[in-house]
Amino acid sequence: MNVGIIGSGTMGSGIAQVAATADCKVKLYDTSQEALNNAKTNLGKILNRLIEKGRIDANEKNRIQANISYVDSLKDLGDSNLTIEAIVENLNIKQKLFSEIEAYVSDDCIIASNTSSLSIASIAASLKKPERCVGIHFFNPAPLMKLVEVIPAIQTSKEVLDKAIQTISDWKKVVAVAKDTPGFIVNRVARPFYGEALRVYEEGIADFATIDWSLKTLGGFRMGPFELMDFIGNDVNYTVTETVFTAFYFDARYKPAFTQKRFSEAGYLGRKSGRGYYDYSEGASKPNPIEDKALAEKIFNRVLVMLINEAADALFLKIASAEDIDNAMTKGVNYPKGLLAWADEKGIDWCVSQLDELYNEYHEDRYRCSPLLRKMNRGKKKFFN
Ligand code: NAI
Repeated sequence: MNVGIIGSGTMGSGIAQVAATADCKVKLYDTSQEALNNAKTNLGKILNRLIEKGRIDANEKNRIQANISYVDSLKDLGDSNLTIEAIVENLNIKQKLFSEIEAYVSDDCIIASNTSSLSIASIAASLKKPERCVGIHFFNPAPLMKLVEVIPAIQTSKEVLDKAIQTISDWKKVVAVAKDTPGFIVNRVARPFYGEALRVYEEGIADFATIDWSLKTLGGFRMGPFELMDFIGNDVNYTVTETVFTAFYFDARYKPAFTQKRFSEAGYLGRKSGRGYYDYSEGASKPNPIEDKALAEKIFNRVLVMLINEAADALFLKIASAEDIDNAMTKGVNYPKGLLAWADEKGIDWCVSQLDELYNEYHEDRYRCSPLLRKMNRGKKKFFN
């Protein structure tokens, strides 16, 4: 299969590695020669590391490298069966590019976008044959993260969707099919992990270290929310939240937090700037959490039930199947358990009563219980049997 990848930055170069490993013939295109050179050099380093770790041998390295050519003209992508775009997140630029690509490729070439936040429908609309467009959303780093969200636009044909799912499965990835709605699955369902943790902090219930400790100890999350925001970058994470909030017509559930905005404005971006919620400068020590089990339980339950509510509501609104929603969170962001399976474990009645308690306390729309949870509770149902 011939695959054209447009944009050789963080995502494009990772996707190229995935496709080349699956033995596709990849052409990687970028307008910047420097970006192409970097992609080539970085791939060499990544493959060398894999050799050192004993994960691949020199033949495998050569095979993967030989499968990728680096091209500086869009025309070179003319023989592609599939193109995946991973350029700057800007609708006008993407639309212009899509209509250009369409002029070079054959009629049955699938033209996909790796966008995180734009609607696939709006990108597809720039094509003469919009039915050939589909969202194929990888997670960073693409070679390591198992999940890929596949997003059909309302224009996408069934054949194109099926082919995209088949191809990505052949690339040994776990596919979750998501409706073309803001944040797809992961970037929507994960919002309360950050948002509710920030809210708990803003109310003065606990400090960053204690909140992180609570979620790691009781929930088994690999990183606490503040450690994770520092890792992602407060600027990047804040922008995703704000984009999702705006795209949902300002639904209170996704409201960004001033704390994160101020940290971002101050340049406290996290690891990359040496300082975020924590200090990453040399010799700096991490503050100790208050190891109070009762407090930790309260924090963990509150964040978890908000995550469960978001997952349940995504199912209620047919964003994806229950299996895909749970797979998305375990394979896309390494949650220790799927949220719907977690809801079953905790009990749907527990989820509803926790949410109602929060709603009664605050009377904010943010804490409204998903109608699906309420309905399931009445029928004594579970998500999985
Ligand atoms: P990046 O900034 O690392 O790379 C973008 C590359 O596109 C650059 O090398 C740039 O030279 C090139 N480019 C810009 N305009 C171009 C054009 N008109 N034609 C050809 N090349 C062009 O960006 P990154 O992070 O790789 O993101 C790319 C896309 O992937 C965005 O749509 C983003 O929303 C999405 N995405 C990003 C994730 C991340 O964690 N970074 C995760 C999943 C999706």
